[in-house]
Amino acid sequence: MIAGKKIILGITGGIAAYKAASLVRLLVKGGAEVQVIMTPNAKEFIAPLTLSTLSGKPVISEFFTANTGQWNSHVDLGLWADAMVIAPATASTIGKMANGVADNMLVTTYLSAKAPVFVAPAMDLDMFKHPTTKRNLDLLRSYGNHIIEPAAGELASHLIGKGRMEEPENIYKVLDAFFDQQHDLQGKKVLITAGPTYEKIDPVRFIGNFSSGKQGFALAQECAERGAEVTLVTGPVNLSIAHPGVTRIDVMSADEMHNAVVSRFPEHDIAIMCAAVADYKVEHVMDHKIKREKGDAPVLTLVKNPDIAKAAGAMKRPDQVLVGFALETDNEDAHAHEKLLKKNLDFIVLNSLKDEGAGFQCSTNKVKIIESDGSETVYPCKDKRMVAKDIVDVLKSKYLK
Ligand code: PMT
Repeated sequence: MIAGKKIILGITGGIAAYKAASLVRLLVKGGAEVQVIMTPNAKEFIAPLTLSTLSGKPVISEFFTANTGQWNSHVDLGLWADAMVIAPATASTIGKMANGVADNMLVTTYLSAKAPVFVAPAMDLDMFKHPTTKRNLDLLRSYGNHIIEPAAGELASHLIGKGRMEEPENIYKVLDAFFDQQHDLQGKKVLITAGPTYEKIDPVRFIGNFSSGKQGFALAQECAERGAEVTLVTGPVNLSIAHPGVTRIDVMSADEMHNAVVSRFPEHDIAIMCAAVADYKVEHVMDHKIKREKGDAPVLTLVKNPDIAKAAGAMKRPDQVLVGFALETDNEDAHAHEKLLKKNLDFIVLNSLKDEGAGFQCSTNKVKIIESDGSETVYPCKDKRMVAKDIVDVLKSKYLK
């Protein structure tokens, strides 16, 4: 419920700034207290007076209010808010947020904010598609920020494509749903594995895979924001997670991940096995770099790694829930069903490398949830954070008391 929530609405300099007035109105009507912060450029698109009238609070734009000399504390604002929403978010502000360029009140407050952050991009289609924008949005996702994807349609340039800020009614719905479910995992302990494992060949080489850790980290962020105490066991990834509800344990090999999971699983209510664990390791790891010699290339003998999910499945008590993933390239359903049974999972999240936008590295995924009671749900391709939400929704609605 939005009623009673304190919301910072950050408005940046794009044509969609005019829609911010409707968003303020909806939020205030819904019972929220709204503090608007505008970038200097945003004031070219909509008058601060409109927004202060609708929000019932003076709009903040500068570090000092010119006529009174009052200092606007970004730190106090960051602590005050239950949520910060940046709508519209231009490519420029997204870049500043991603890279910590705190040269205005909005980005400074963003860096101080302790509350969940929602970003509603708005820009021309080519700007939205540009690798810089994609990378910056990925960075924001990796900080746990929620990206409210822009819609497709006619843009201010009259070009047609993706880049229109989502409608205020839909942004309101996203916030409302977020506050509704916010603490539905309160009191639960969730163990999550993420990323790849690296199996050493010699001091400079390893066998690994393409997992970035994004899906596992999105799950950790989602569970923590819904009130769970999360233990995130991760292989080597280039991601960070700042939520105080997440305890991160870094491991490298499947053996290390196995030990970290098996020793901790009994004290958790739920385990979600999202890591791409190497099924094999090298039997004899060389203690020196293998040299390129004349003659035959070296032959590596591989031996099986422990199956971590299966080990957890064997230990599982009736009061615990175990969720696995299946990453497949063929016979997807048959393989997923086999893993569901073999590993004693409650449900399995199937993603196929045949589907565009699914699997490793990308910020989206396309999954099918197959449950041990035989039910199956297919989801469209969506942001990995939204996939995490779908998975936790299934957990919550069917597996938790
Ligand atoms: O990290 P990203 O780039 O975001 O990509 C996400 C992902 C594709 C890695 C993720 O969505 C995913 O599918 N993770 C599981 C990948 C995998 O290894 O699938 P699998 O079908 O080989 O394994 C089945 C299940 O057993 C998985 O839950 C896996 O974690 C687990 N397993 C596998 C082998 C092993 N030795 N121990 C395990 O616990």
